[in-house]
Amino acid sequence: MQLSKRITHLTGGGSDGWDVFYRARAMIAAGEEVTELTIGEHDIRTHASILNAMHGAAAGGHTGYAMVPGTDTLRRTVAQRMTERTGVPTGPENVLITPGGQSALFAAHHAVCDEGDTALYIDPYYATYPGTIRGVGAFPKAVITRPEDAFKPQRSALDQVATGARSLLINTPNNPTGVVYDLETLETISEACKAHDLWLISDEVYDTQVWDGSHISPRGLPDMADRTLVVGSMSKSHAMTGSRCGWLVGPAQAIDHLITLATHTTYGVPGYIQDAAVFAMEQGSALEAEIAAPFRRRRDLAQSILAAQNTIGLIPSQGAMYLMLDIRATGLSGEDFANALLDRHRIAVMPGESFGRAAAGHIRVAMTIDDQAFAAALETLCAFASAAAKKTA
Ligand SMILES: Cc1ncc(COP(=O)(O)O)c(C=O)c1O
Repeated sequence: MQLSKRITHLTGGGSDGWDVFYRARAMIAAGEEVTELTIGEHDIRTHASILNAMHGAAAGGHTGYAMVPGTDTLRRTVAQRMTERTGVPTGPENVLITPGGQSALFAAHHAVCDEGDTALYIDPYYATYPGTIRGVGAFPKAVITRPEDAFKPQRSALDQVATGARSLLINTPNNPTGVVYDLETLETISEACKAHDLWLISDEVYDTQVWDGSHISPRGLPDMADRTLVVGSMSKSHAMTGSRCGWLVGPAQAIDHLITLATHTTYGVPGYIQDAAVFAMEQGSALEAEIAAPFRRRRDLAQSILAAQNTIGLIPSQGAMYLMLDIRATGLSGEDFANALLDRHRIAVMPGESFGRAAAGHIRVAMTIDDQAFAAALETLCAFASAAAKKTA
């Protein structure tokens, strides 16, 4: 039987540079020891106090169907958090609770794109973006950025592709680059959105992981609240990746329609998970800082290791759990570098090419293993890069 084009064409086809990742996983499955610096998952598990709250809620009976838009308490908690962080008055009517940020990304595009519409995203990009856009029947179009601009979108690049598009998807703090968009960049983006009448979908799932500067949500910029949908999540801020709890914040009318979408797709998020999310957020920023601390420490370690060599360039590492390293001086592509590093040293990193063409000649390093092993792997990586550069010289 024939399947829909929508499902069979969800990914663009081709390997897209994910071969290195699958090869590393196959080596691990075959019993080999591989240092994995690939995916964005904490090396700690969900805090025991959050698990206790989850258990208490489930044991207390919150195991039936929960309210589809989210529990009143969680919607209010997220709304209050948004109000505090953006200055834009936000109420529960502006919030839809979703099974993770990924589901919110899908819902957001569903809300603003019709079949065949063009939806923009910034290249380099988080792996699921183009597929999420195709999933709602829209056409993904990349806004190309440059390493010289720390991969921040420029107005000329936005203008080049924006005519006729419906939406623009951004992500700050950024996966895969580790860059945090400054006010100037966000103002450029918001001006472009207004000039081209675009919805802005702002993925802010790393908003608690900022090492330099501060996180700014474009929802708080002048006249942006009515055209912005903010994606948030408990995954990264509270090490709750497996709990699948996120949200979308936007204009009440959009949220109203999205509740209907949720009724016909996810039917909400388990009540005991939502209760645990409320508990976690009630602990305030101290718990968020505790969860972010290992990545900040490793970023500092990486900066000092990289300062002692001159083959690899570091894209300003300002937030999120990744480093984007410029390895063009080795003469290798990101993919060749990552494959050779895996073969010779059993260290797995992601080629920049996995995240789009803008990050070719780069690699992404996830800071998701303990400090000592992380520092040792980075030292080996630097020595490998330096030897490769000498060979090409
Ligand atoms: C940029 C970005 N957005 C969204 C997500 C999805 O997160 P979740 O669905 O776990 O909330 C991730 C996960 O790695 C991510 O890196």
